[in-house]
Amino acid sequence: MNPLKHVAIIMDGNGRWGLKYKNSRNAGHKAGLETVETVIKETIKNKINFLTLFAFSTENWKRPKKEINYLFNLLENFLINRIEELHKNNIKLKILGSKKFSPKLNKLLNYSEKKTSKNNKLQINLALNYGSKLELINAFKKIFSSNKKINEKNIEKYLQTKDIPDPDILIRTGNTKRLSNFLLWQLAYTEIFFEKKLWPAFTKKDFKRIIKEYKDIKRNFGKI
Ligand code: FPP
Repeated sequence: MNPLKHVAIIMDGNGRWGLKYKNSRNAGHKAGLETVETVIKETIKNKINFLTLFAFSTENWKRPKKEINYLFNLLENFLINRIEELHKNNIKLKILGSKKFSPKLNKLLNYSEKKTSKNNKLQINLALNYGSKLELINAFKKIFSSNKKINEKNIEKYLQTKDIPDPDILIRTGNTKRLSNFLLWQLAYTEIFFEKKLWPAFTKKDFKRIIKEYKDIKRNFGKI
């Protein structure tokens, strides 16, 4: 059975779900947050140490301002209401991506990261304003400016995922088979599960089925 340390998720399909069932894309985001809570609980139950969630890409700024504001408000309220509980549950929050948000949200994100920084049951990496190509460009720039060699070890040292094992599983919901500039380096040997369901419709049962399937895969990392 394969060990399972890290699950990464592209939570796609909120907008479509919201439009279909509630006539509002934003209602889909709200429902998507409930799925996030379900998955966090299941991640803890399964003793998985890292959960990485793609919540906002560098390309998502092209969306209507109203939708962007709604998403960040949702995140703000989530942190205000739940950070103490996450902390009590020994969960560490880390932000991947660059924090270029409102002063209020930036402050809240910094506070949440600092407060939970010593926790070690589960680390939740929230990818916000994250793009993998930019992450790699920044890593290369740092290697050049420190006159270091270009090799795997140095690249990994300067990625934002330094000290985080590569994902074992990537789940993308929403019936789309692409990586959308997410963890391109880190997913080199990850087992990928493309799910037809939209993110708000993704259930505990779906998550458990994927874990079970993953555990039985023969992973050979290029060997035979
Ligand atoms: C992709 O669906 C989803 C997002 C861009 C946002 C993800 C946000 C959440 C799951 C809820 C909020 C999370 C936090 C951590 C507060 P989409 O809108 O691209 O859906 P579509 O493909 O149907 O348009």
